[in-house]
Amino acid sequence: MHFVINEEDFEREVDLRTSLLDLLRDHAGLTGTKKGCNQGACGACTVLVDGERIVSCLALAVQYEGRAITTVEGLADAAGLHPLQRAFVEHDGFQCGYCTPGQLCSAIGMAAELQRGLPSHVTADLTATTMRTTREELTERMSGNLCRCGAHNGIIDAIDEFFGDDRADHAYVPETPEKVA
Ligand code: FES
Ligand code: FES
Repeated sequence: MHFVINEEDFEREVDLRTSLLDLLRDHAGLTGTKKGCNQGACGACTVLVDGERIVSCLALAVQYEGRAITTVEGLADAAGLHPLQRAFVEHDGFQCGYCTPGQLCSAIGMAAELQRGLPSHVTADLTATTMRTTREELTERMSGNLCRCGAHNGIIDAIDEFFGDDRADHAYVPETPEKVA
């Protein structure tokens, strides 16, 4: 089977029942993605596939052959940490760090959803073409990623630095400009 993980090819024959999470951790050696509940409830295993966030514990690896998989290891580059990672450090967005890889990938996927105009449970105007990124919106949209250390305030502060309403001029803008009909 052929996978593309963090822009690198990875070949491995695995049992068809192998989850994407186990492929990443046990076969590709990418242990940044964490296994929390292993049943889709905590978000610790969140990764990006073609820019969309998914919980990798509920995904069969075989479904993602040839797709662009991004894990936390793929966020930083030769220049250093991804700016969102730096914001997590600056805002104390973690304590033990177990949920952090999932929080980072989820936040980047969330920003792409905002760009595409996808509403959330707390979006007041479902016809808006531009989603507002209030703290309430960010909190709701990140509610699938649990932090047992209770670092949620710092996590939302860090994400707000990037995607909040007052930060529209920030350098990082996700590359998914189309609005879904
Ligand atoms: S480990 Fe996948 S959602 Fe908890
Ligand atoms: S920082 Fe420990 S679980 Fe979130």
